[in-house]
Amino acid sequence: MTSSSTTLSLVDTDPAELAVDAIVIGVHSQTTGPDATSGPAGTLLLADGAESIAAAFDGKLTATLALLGATGGPGEVIKLATLGTVTAPLVVAVGLGPEPTGAAPAPETLRRAAGAAVRALAGAPRVALSLPLPDDADAPAALRAVAEGALLGGYRFAGYKTKPQPSRREPVAEVLIAVPDAADATARAEVDRATAVAGAVRTSRDWVNTAPNELRPPAFAEAVATAARAAGLDVEVLDEEQLRAGGYGGITAVGQGSEAPPRLVKLTWTPAGETNGKRVALVGKGITFDTGGISIKPAQGMWEMKSDMAGAAAVGAAMLAIAALKPSVTVTGYLPMAENMPSGTSYRPGDVVTMFNGKRVEVLNTDAEGRMILGDAMARACADGTDYLFETSTLTGGQVIALGKRIAGVMGTPELCERVKVAGDTVGEPAWPMPLPDDVRKGMDSDVADISQVNAGMDRAGHMLQGGVFLREFVTDEVAWAHIDIAGPGYHSGEPTGYWTKGGTGVPVRTLVQLVEDVAANG
Ligand code: BES
Ligand code: MN
Ligand code: ZN
Repeated sequence: MTSSSTTLSLVDTDPAELAVDAIVIGVHSQTTGPDATSGPAGTLLLADGAESIAAAFDGKLTATLALLGATGGPGEVIKLATLGTVTAPLVVAVGLGPEPTGAAPAPETLRRAAGAAVRALAGAPRVALSLPLPDDADAPAALRAVAEGALLGGYRFAGYKTKPQPSRREPVAEVLIAVPDAADATARAEVDRATAVAGAVRTSRDWVNTAPNELRPPAFAEAVATAARAAGLDVEVLDEEQLRAGGYGGITAVGQGSEAPPRLVKLTWTPAGETNGKRVALVGKGITFDTGGISIKPAQGMWEMKSDMAGAAAVGAAMLAIAALKPSVTVTGYLPMAENMPSGTSYRPGDVVTMFNGKRVEVLNTDAEGRMILGDAMARACADGTDYLFETSTLTGGQVIALGKRIAGVMGTPELCERVKVAGDTVGEPAWPMPLPDDVRKGMDSDVADISQVNAGMDRAGHMLQGGVFLREFVTDEVAWAHIDIAGPGYHSGEPTGYWTKGGTGVPVRTLVQLVEDVAANG
């Protein structure tokens, strides 16, 4: 079940003369300069890129937009019929917030604006974006942001409706972005990069949005393996027999309660030329459905646990983008997959499980299943040899309590956590470093095994940190690592906003790609 696609291209002709269904311009709010127009809703200023459209409206464009209620607030979309003033039948003003003094808007502002505009224009086959792009060193980042925003705002999951929906407006099929020089090699490279990266984000959204009965571990492994082979990656899939024989106690334990057996998918990108010798491992949680198992979850909202494979989806999709971008660094993705079900064969509280690295874990709550499959996969990544290990998972409700639905929690080697934060800020996927306190580890001492899977007294304090502290046990000393908890940011259950559609967000695909490129460039 895949979404329809949106294509991107660059134009450098006059936006007023473009034969498109709509032309998108930017408007700023709260400006007080001589060009500002006071309307009933405050003051408005047209952003750079809107000049020729404004000229065609004889200086009446801002006043008309203000009359229609435009305030220039972020995410606002106001549509105006052009009645022949310009070639496109529709002008769409997208809010960019206050004009930043002496600079173009921040990339994330542009990404959200492009996403909101393209989303609002569903039903229009072909649209052009004429947004404020800087002409200095920031130009590539701004263009990248607009391109990504457009492609992600144009995402829609195909869904399962048996009848065509008469009122359904198809996502925009073709987006033109107005730039100073459409033949510029740097600009064209940014479009290609955005197409690869946003394509990966869309693929990860598709996997997350797929119904959990259609994406149990064998099917998920097959879908990832097929896409990865097509992208030219090396693919290895371990089945339940190989997992048991290989000593993957955590993946085996969680997977044994389901009739659909577990998998471990390994994807490898090997660059052709010289590298700086660094190796990167990416690990993602692939619980295709999390009922909690014997420690079963309440029914309320349980369906959302179809998104408990968002980490694996992000890692698998990031590997597809990496195959397209060809960074000069070796990258291996590990995707442990299991369905956490209650049954007569389920693992149970009290079980002691021997993990891939030989450590013994006392299970106290079968709903803390993510760390069981991740511990094995992370230990395997370390055994294969790596310099950096980035792991991402919808691991704890505690992440949502601590940091909310937008900001991921990061735990691990402090320098690498900082690097994840910087990468996240760069791409618009914020992440915040959190500690791994000794007393939290102390609380996980087990009477019978090497470690308890959760606090031995079932104390939920520092719940997100318990996850990080547990995972640390499965990383060898020489490996720099970071655990990125995306329980909140991985899935968007609210109304669409900016370039976020309902459902899977694709977080943190863009962060992972950014980190890999960072390691390729800087070691
Ligand atoms: N998949 C959940 C975490 C989760 C919660 C993700 C909400 C997204 C939204 C995870 O497997 C889980 O159940 N965690 C438990 C851990 C507890 C049993 C230690 C939790 O968060 O309560
Ligand atoms: Mn769980
Ligand atoms: Zn889970």
